[in-house]
Amino acid sequence: MATERTFSILKPDATKRNLTGAVNAVIEKAGLRIVGQRRIQMSRAQAEKFYEIHKERPFFGELVEFMTSGPVVVQVLEGENAVARYREVMGATNPANADEGTIRKTFSESVGENTVHGSDSLENAKAEIAQFFQDADIAG
Ligand code: CMP
Repeated sequence: MATERTFSILKPDATKRNLTGAVNAVIEKAGLRIVGQRRIQMSRAQAEKFYEIHKERPFFGELVEFMTSGPVVVQVLEGENAVARYREVMGATNPANADEGTIRKTFSESVGENTVHGSDSLENAKAEIAQFFQDADIAG
């Protein structure tokens, strides 16, 4: 197994409910290191670009609306097998299907407002990190 980096977003339902620290505690306890982190207000253009792959989906408008409805925390996580590991830690996209102990089972209220995003491949992780972080800020 290799040390990898993945991209994470703590979504507006997390920041609104003051859950940044609680979610980060789960991430760190799972052995993932938060090597980059910034709290931002995502613009509509940024959200549309980030979720471009979903633009034909019926929920695209709702998704962009939600992701711009309040602050998010964008993160770079590092660890062994980080892409797959973080997906395990997040749990299924729909919290109703997520395993006990996962972030979404513990904190999420619906498939739309599901608390966290994590990259689904190493290739996408690289592109997603590049959208929100400068190399120099995550060099260490
Ligand atoms: P995420 O991993 O951020 O990537 C795409 C997002 O679309 C996903 O998490 C969900 O939050 C959201 N999504 C998926 N299915 C639905 C749905 N049926 N209704 C609303 N949002 C959805």
